[in-house]
Amino acid sequence: MSLLSLVQRRLIIVTGKGGVGKSTLTAAMGRALAAQGKRVMISEIVPFHDTPSQLAAALGGKRPTEEPVLYGDNLWVALLTPTMGHLRFLQDSLPIRMLADAAMRSQGLRKFLSAAPGFSDMGVMYRMLDLLRREHPSGGPMFEVCIVDSPATGHALALAQIPEFLTRVIPGGPIFRAAAEGVRILTDPSICGTVIVTLPETLPVTEALELEKGLAKHKLTVSAIVVNRVPRDPFSADERLALAEVLKNGDSTVFGARELKRIERAEAALALLKEKHPDHAVVLSEVDGTGAEASKNLVALL
Ligand SMILES: Nc1ncnc2c1ncn2[C@@H]1O[C@H](COP(=O)(O)OP(=O)(O)O)[C@@H](O)[C@H]1O
Ligand SMILES: [Mg+2]
Repeated sequence: MSLLSLVQRRLIIVTGKGGVGKSTLTAAMGRALAAQGKRVMISEIVPFHDTPSQLAAALGGKRPTEEPVLYGDNLWVALLTPTMGHLRFLQDSLPIRMLADAAMRSQGLRKFLSAAPGFSDMGVMYRMLDLLRREHPSGGPMFEVCIVDSPATGHALALAQIPEFLTRVIPGGPIFRAAAEGVRILTDPSICGTVIVTLPETLPVTEALELEKGLAKHKLTVSAIVVNRVPRDPFSADERLALAEVLKNGDSTVFGARELKRIERAEAALALLKEKHPDHAVVLSEVDGTGAEASKNLVALL
C-alpha cells in the first residue's frame, strides 16, 4: 500500500532515529498532500526558535518561524517550540492576555518552564493542539493535515507519557486538563497516526519494531513503518550471478562488491520486516540529490 493512503489522518507524527530521513520525508509528504489540494502544515519540533532547522534544509527556502508561513500552494511550515506552547497556554488560561505576555517575560518563570521535566513536551503538545484547532476564515480547520517532524526516537513517546507524569505532579487543574486533551487526540486512531522511519539494515529495522511496541503500549497508532533509502539494484540477474561467482573466491576488492553486500543486507532487513508487518511496511528507495532536491525526488515514490 502507498504511504499516502496509510497516513490519511489529521495529525501525522514522523519519528525514528537521527539521519534516517524524517525531515526529508516530512517535506515530501507535505508537498504530496498539498498537491492533492489539502491545506497542509508541516512542522518541526525544536527546543528554541533559533535552533537550526533540518526541515528548512529538506524543504529549501527560507527558515521557518514559530508562526506558520505559507511555503507554497496549500503548504505551510512552522517550528514547534516549548516556549510558544507555554505562552499560548497562559494566554488561553489567564483572564487577561496581557498577563500572559508579562508572565512570559519573567526570566524566573521561563527558566522554570524550560527546566522542569515534562514541561517542554507539554509546551510542544499544547502548541500542536493550538494549531490543529485553528480555523480557516471560510470555516473548517485552517490546517487539514498537520505533519510533525519529531527530533528523536523518544519524543513521540514522551508526548504520550505526559499525563502519567502530570498525575503524579499536578493532578487536576488547567494544565492537567490541557494535557489530558492532548493525549486524547494523540491516542485517537481516527485523528493521529505515527510514521516510524528506519534504514534498510537489520539492526535499525529491529529497533523500529521495538519502537512500534513502545508506541503501541502508550496507545499511539503506528500507521506505517517506512524503510527509507533502499539501494536501487544496478545489477541484472546475470551480472549478479557473475559477481557472486567472483566474490565466492574471496575477492572483496572487486568493483561493486560493497554495493552488492549493501543490497543483500537491505534484502535481509526487508525480509525481517515483511515477516512481521506485511500490511503497513513501506519501502522507499534511494533518490538522487540531497536537501530539497532529495525531498522533491521522494514525492514521486509516495
Ligand atoms: N530516500 C532518500 N534517498 C537519498 N537520500 C536521502 C533519502 N532520504 C533522506 N536522504 C538524505 O539523508 C540525509 C538525512 O536525512 P534527514 O531527512 O535530514 O534525516 P533525519 O531528519 O531523520 O535526521 C539527508 O542528506 C537527506 O538528503
Ligand atoms: Mg530531521
